[in-house]
Amino acid sequence: MHLACVVGTRPEAIKLFPVIQAARAAGHRCDILSTGQHREMLDQALEGFALRATLDLGLMRPGQGLSALAAGVMAGLDPWLVAERPDWLLVQGDTTSAMAGALAGFHARIPVAHVEGGLRSHDLDAPFPEEANRAVIGRLARLHLAPTETARQNLLREGVPGGAIRVTGNTGVDALLAVASEAPDPPVTLDPARRLVLVTAHRRESQAAGLQRLARAMARLASRPDVQMVVPLHRNPLAAKPLAEALADCRSVTLLPPQNYRAFVALLCRAALVITDSGGVQEEAATLGVPVLVAREETDRPEAMDAGTTLLVGTGEAGLLAAAHRVLDAPPKPPRPSLAFGDGRDAPRILAALESARPVEARLPAMAVRP
Ligand code: UD1
Ligand code: UDP
Repeated sequence: MHLACVVGTRPEAIKLFPVIQAARAAGHRCDILSTGQHREMLDQALEGFALRATLDLGLMRPGQGLSALAAGVMAGLDPWLVAERPDWLLVQGDTTSAMAGALAGFHARIPVAHVEGGLRSHDLDAPFPEEANRAVIGRLARLHLAPTETARQNLLREGVPGGAIRVTGNTGVDALLAVASEAPDPPVTLDPARRLVLVTAHRRESQAAGLQRLARAMARLASRPDVQMVVPLHRNPLAAKPLAEALADCRSVTLLPPQNYRAFVALLCRAALVITDSGGVQEEAATLGVPVLVAREETDRPEAMDAGTTLLVGTGEAGLLAAAHRVLDAPPKPPRPSLAFGDGRDAPRILAALESARPVEARLPAMAVRP
């Protein structure tokens, strides 16, 4: 079987890595088509997994608009797809690289498989543009690899035929458990007398006002004498600036550049509390049983809330701060790991689903892809 994976951002690299590894171990050809949407963060993630791109479109431009990025992904992937004709084009999640990659696959008549299909917040504006991206991919994909039953139900409600959906678990759990089992070292010295609060934030709908409120709440939380706060910043300047400005003078806060995956997992494993608006980080924290406050107004991952360690708190300063104090003031409990997102054996299930669904290509009506 010949697979090609569109990889544009850090979470796509992390979550597709277990699939690429499983595919190659089984003797399949598996190409990596890098859009370069996240130049530095993507390279950092790929390097950690010793992966090299077959094709690199190098599309990142500072301040680039979403339409320019999407157009570049489609125009860049098309010649390769038309020439190489993989059996499956895999896209993961909800980024603009994934959405434009799926559309390029559709145009080139390559069957698209959507890894992490079916997540929905049911609010087109949050997360923006990810809710629209994953709905578009859901319309184009021939095979939907849903991480959870909730995701499968979302797809069924939208009219996706049940036979085109497989519930496989989330491959992020495979990556997390593999790296956590190697007990990596944290990138900063941690004070054993204080409790680690790990913070990440980058959502577009929170940029400006939401991130400023989050940053003010974090500055106040960091004044607790029992807290050591570590904040790996996103490379997007609109995400990093409000946090960097508000927290620069706080003595118990360490601001870091984006961390490689091993270093970040080392921090996650030691955190008493995670505060994040990231999708992947809330899955990882829930899997490890670390308490998480989700700084978003909506959720596309209700399973995390059901796991009992995750709370959706919004981006209001007072609400965030009160929730964080509540977690830190409660008597410390042993972590309560959750299997809500996967069991660490999710990539082999995806591979089996791709293998068994292979005849799908034969059923794609042939059409001229060039005039
Ligand atoms: C993107 C994805 C989002 C995903 C997130 C993961 C879209 C629209 N958004 O959001 O779905 O959850 O990544 O982190 O696909 N930059 C760098 N170096 C990097 C990465 C970014 O300098 O390695 C800067 C550039 O100025 C770039 C800007 O950040 O133009 C924005 O990056 P972009 O990928 O457009 O959006 P994100 O908000 O990061
Ligand atoms: N991550 C990382 N280094 C960091 C911060 C996060 O490797 O400094 C990892 C994290 O473990 C998770 C993924 O990046 O697997 C999440 O990426 P992000 O929050 O950028 O995107 P989202 O999941 O919200 O799409």
